[in-house]
Amino acid sequence: MSPNVDETSASAPAKTRKTVKECYDFFDCVFPACGLRDLTEGMYHGDPTGSYQQAQRNQVEWLLDQVHCQAGSRILDIGFGYGTLLEAARDRGAHGVGISVSPPQVERGLANGLDVRLLNYRNMGEEWNEQFDAVIANGSAEHFVHPDDIIAGRADQIYRELFRICHRLIDPASPSRRFATTIIHCNDRTPVPTFAELKKSPFAFAWRSPKFHYAMIQQTFGGFYPEPQQLERCAQDYFRLSGEVDGTEDYHLTSEQWFAHVRRQMMSLKNGPRIFGNLVRQFCRRPRHTTLMLICLLVTESWQEQFRGEHPATTLLRQTWDYVPSPVPLSEEIAETKATLLSS
Ligand SMILES: C[S@@+](CC[C@H](N)C(=O)[O-])C[C@H]1O[C@@H](n2cnc3c(N)ncnc32)[C@H](O)[C@@H]1O
Repeated sequence: MSPNVDETSASAPAKTRKTVKECYDFFDCVFPACGLRDLTEGMYHGDPTGSYQQAQRNQVEWLLDQVHCQAGSRILDIGFGYGTLLEAARDRGAHGVGISVSPPQVERGLANGLDVRLLNYRNMGEEWNEQFDAVIANGSAEHFVHPDDIIAGRADQIYRELFRICHRLIDPASPSRRFATTIIHCNDRTPVPTFAELKKSPFAFAWRSPKFHYAMIQQTFGGFYPEPQQLERCAQDYFRLSGEVDGTEDYHLTSEQWFAHVRRQMMSLKNGPRIFGNLVRQFCRRPRHTTLMLICLLVTESWQEQFRGEHPATTLLRQTWDYVPSPVPLSEEIAETKATLLSS
């Protein structure tokens, strides 16, 4: 495996968006203190009374099964969070490498004995080529496209680049050669903002209206959800979609459990003072973002709102992608990389 590479060491490094870092700095103040180590949905198999821990375990095991992870497999986890998937891969005798743009996550992962790096996937250089049997992105790709990318019309380029990067990271001789993703998507009920609305404050919209909730999520979490079929279109030449499962209800159950638990922990004598202390420190560093995040999660519940109701405003898709052996010619790849770099 390649040496530890910091995200600043690539020759023309892509910048990580401030909001994404702020989002995970915020969560680091709250989730670990509440005993929560998962930042994506679990899998309840239709049983809303299922336990949170089992649902999370189901999800990582399912993802590892999707990529045929077994003893000796080399797995890349893009956005490893608190490393639960890497630990489950290690339990199978596989070697997992995790990358994340969140410094506190990397610190915790290293302290846990995991092979993790502070690295934006866009900065994975040639030294990583053909190093993995499979790649997993469990809840990270929602952060890859941003409102200014939408305005500049480069969302497709960014997703296409994602698939191209994952393609070159996979060993063409591996028997697995898969990419597994879980990503929240827009659907036909999503209150997608117009270009003019994209950078507006949530408070420019009616309180608790669909557009208010959407703007709130965008400005606290950072990113923009893909449209239906957009990823399939962008994966062409690199990966073929071989499986798709709708996990929206799972994300609904997870989100409700998360924030009911967080509220209880904030009110508890054991953990409350520590969580409030962490939040005060975070507020002093990032007053606007911390305030918005607290409103989003605990007051308006904009995050939870997107998965509520019979017809939720977003759709969570778990997708499994098969490696396509012959990608586009290198000349075309170089031209497209240049175009992406110039436009970002
Ligand atoms: C919603 S969390 C999911 C974490 C973990 N997979 C889990 O299920 O708990 C998203 C993760 O993606 C990471 N991330 C966001 N943008 C990234 C990028 N450009 N490159 C690498 N990781 C990124 C974040 O740091 C975070 O670890």
